[in-house]
Amino acid sequence: MAGILEGKVALITGAGSGIGRATAKIFAREGAHLMIIDVAAVAAQETLEAVRQLGAKALCLKADVSNAAEVEAAVARTVSEFGRLDCAFNNAGIEGEPALTHKCSEANWNRVLAINLTGVWLCMKAEIAQMLKQGQGGAIVNTSSVAGIAGAIGGPAYVASKHGVAGLTRAAALEYGRYKIRVNAVCPGPIRTPMLARLMQFTKDAEDRMVRSEPLKRLGEPEEIGETVAWLCSDRASFVTGLPMPVDGGFFAQ
Ligand SMILES: NC(=O)c1ccc[n+]([C@@H]2O[C@H](COP(=O)([O-])OP(=O)(O)OC[C@H]3O[C@@H](n4cnc5c(N)ncnc54)[C@H](O)[C@@H]3O)[C@@H](O)[C@H]2O)c1
Repeated sequence: MAGILEGKVALITGAGSGIGRATAKIFAREGAHLMIIDVAAVAAQETLEAVRQLGAKALCLKADVSNAAEVEAAVARTVSEFGRLDCAFNNAGIEGEPALTHKCSEANWNRVLAINLTGVWLCMKAEIAQMLKQGQGGAIVNTSSVAGIAGAIGGPAYVASKHGVAGLTRAAALEYGRYKIRVNAVCPGPIRTPMLARLMQFTKDAEDRMVRSEPLKRLGEPEEIGETVAWLCSDRASFVTGLPMPVDGGFFAQ
C-alpha cells in the first residue's frame, strides 16, 4: 500500500535528533523524499543513513536555521536535487538556559529567539517562496510547544519563542490559504528526547512530576509527534490549516 507521503519532497530541520529524527524515519516509511537539515553534521548524517536504510531517496545538509543564507541554500539544494518542495517540518529548536525572567541574560534571550522563532520564519520564507513558484500548494508544519499555548516557569525566551511560532503559523495560514499552502504547528507535551533529558537534570523527580501531570500518565515518544506531523503534511489533512495542535497526552483537557 502506498504511504501517505508517497513521492512528496519534504525538508525537515533539527532532523539529527529527537523529534526531527523520528519524524524523518516516519516520512521515509510513508514514501517521502527527504532533505535532512541540522546544525550538527554528524547527527544529520546518521539520520540520513537511517532513512536511506528505510528506502528513502534522501540528502543531508549542515545548516543553521538562524542563518538566512544557509536556509535559502538548503531550499535551493532540495529543489536542485529533487525538483520541487512539497512539505516542510520546521522543527529545529533549543531549550536555552534555565532562568527566571529577571535573571534571563540578553544573550540567552537573543539566541533562543534567533533559532526558535526567527529560524522558523526564515525557513517559512524560503519554503513558501518556492511553493508559490511551483503554484501547486504545499504543507508546512512548525514545532511550537505546550509552552506556545500556556506559560511555563524558568524559560521566558523559550515560552515567548514558542508562542511566536503559534502566531506565525496562524498568520501564514491566513496569507497563503488561497494558494493551497497549509500551515500548521504541533505543540508537543513532554517528549522523551535528548532535549527533555537535558531539561530534567535541573529538577529533582522531574520525570515523576511530569508523568503525574499528564492524563495518560507517561511521557510522549518522539514517534508520536512524527505520526501527527506526517498526517498534517499529507493530503489526508487537506482541510486543516492554521492550527497549533497540542500533542500532549491530554494535558490541556485538565
Ligand atoms: N522534547 C520535548 O519535550 C519538546 C516539547 C515541546 C517542544 N519541543 C520542541 O521540539 C523540537 C525538537 O526538540 P527535541 O526534543 O527533538 O530536541 P533535540 O535537542 O533532541 O533535537 C533538536 C535538534 O535541533 C538541532 N538544532 C539546534 N539548533 C539548530 C539550528 N540553529 N539549526 C539547525 N538545527 C538546529 C540540534 O542539533 C538537534 O539535532 C524543538 O523545537 C523543541 O523546542 C520539544
